[in-house]
Amino acid sequence: MQSIYLDYSATTPLDPRVLAAMQPYFAEQFGNSKAIHRFGHDAETAIEHARETVARCLGCSPADVVFTSGGTESDNLALRGPAQYARVHDRPFTFITGPVEHAAVAVTARQIRDTLGAALRVVPVDRAGRVDPADLRAALHSLPANGIALVSLIHANNEIGTVSPIAEYAAIAHEHGALFHTDAVQSPGHLALEVEGMGIDLLSLSSHKFYGPKGAGVLVLRQNVPYLSAQTGASHEDHRRAGTHNTPGIVGTAAALEIACAERVESAARLSNLRQRLVAGVLSTIPDAELTGDPLDRLPGHASFAFKDVLSSTLLMHLDQRGIAASSGSACKSGNEQPSAILETLGFGPQWTRGGLRLSLGRSTTSDDIATVLAALPDAVAAVRRIAAMTATP
Ligand SMILES: Cc1ncc(COP(=O)(O)O)c(C=O)c1O
Repeated sequence: MQSIYLDYSATTPLDPRVLAAMQPYFAEQFGNSKAIHRFGHDAETAIEHARETVARCLGCSPADVVFTSGGTESDNLALRGPAQYARVHDRPFTFITGPVEHAAVAVTARQIRDTLGAALRVVPVDRAGRVDPADLRAALHSLPANGIALVSLIHANNEIGTVSPIAEYAAIAHEHGALFHTDAVQSPGHLALEVEGMGIDLLSLSSHKFYGPKGAGVLVLRQNVPYLSAQTGASHEDHRRAGTHNTPGIVGTAAALEIACAERVESAARLSNLRQRLVAGVLSTIPDAELTGDPLDRLPGHASFAFKDVLSSTLLMHLDQRGIAASSGSACKSGNEQPSAILETLGFGPQWTRGGLRLSLGRSTTSDDIATVLAALPDAVAAVRRIAAMTATP
């Protein structure tokens, strides 16, 4: 049976052009970038070249680019660095975030509150999962004098696809003297990113989300940010992230980002057409189905739904048997029968919050794939509902 992969928001395959760029750095040019010989120098040259490429793609200075092991680490460093700096300099730290952030931000924020004594303010979101700028302003009221405040709001939501106006949020944060971080892990290749133009102080990326290697990512850390690294050791990355450089991963990150930026406009237009067809088809053929997230201002290839009286994990198995690989919304939560905290936050009732489905489209998705999914999904949902009705306790 042919498999249709519709889980590009969870991860993407490595682009063969990226693999070719990485190849020499595994076994031939394997040097440690810190070493004072030719092997070390070759690795260092490749890394600095990659840094320039990443900076060019993101509209920032090469000095702002820190290579990490992925999105989770970038989020951790972005949040913990300013919080630790505040702690060491005996300044109050206030962290302002939303209720629909990825766990890499949400869990880290709570731990910073509990271990570093930071104040945590959570701004509400609307039904699309977006913070109202007026609510962000309200959350930034009466910040402690001499304190450091950091706002962190996701650019494009991984579970429901909604895109948020981060340049506007950054401007509001700055009006109140706060720093602005965004988790933009889902954005490259889909949305324009312009660090300086958007007023972003800190930004997180993960290479495997844009056809780059797993275990590699980027933290953009502007020079103005007070920062004490949570990853301590030697002086790599100008003391901002210790650890021997993953040279193939770094070279692959730059190659993948360059391709993602160059092909973004064309790819976004193609994917958003396919997604619109998918959404319209699902909503017109499946009863008690809702699109989650913003209907239009969303990731181009991202379609997410809530189905009433459906258990996502069962639906995902039914789809898998029909050759369709999908997700409930967040890679970490697939197979988990807990209600979706995000759907609860958006106001969905208990009959809906276990029934999330995310279909995320990518480079290999074709029009025929959409037709196949539209033919299979109504039956799969009906089958899951029949099972639920049979096993329901009277
Ligand atoms: C929005 C968002 N942030 C952070 C992450 C974590 O990235 P990584 O898998 O590189 O740790 C993910 C991955 O699912 C994500 O979607």
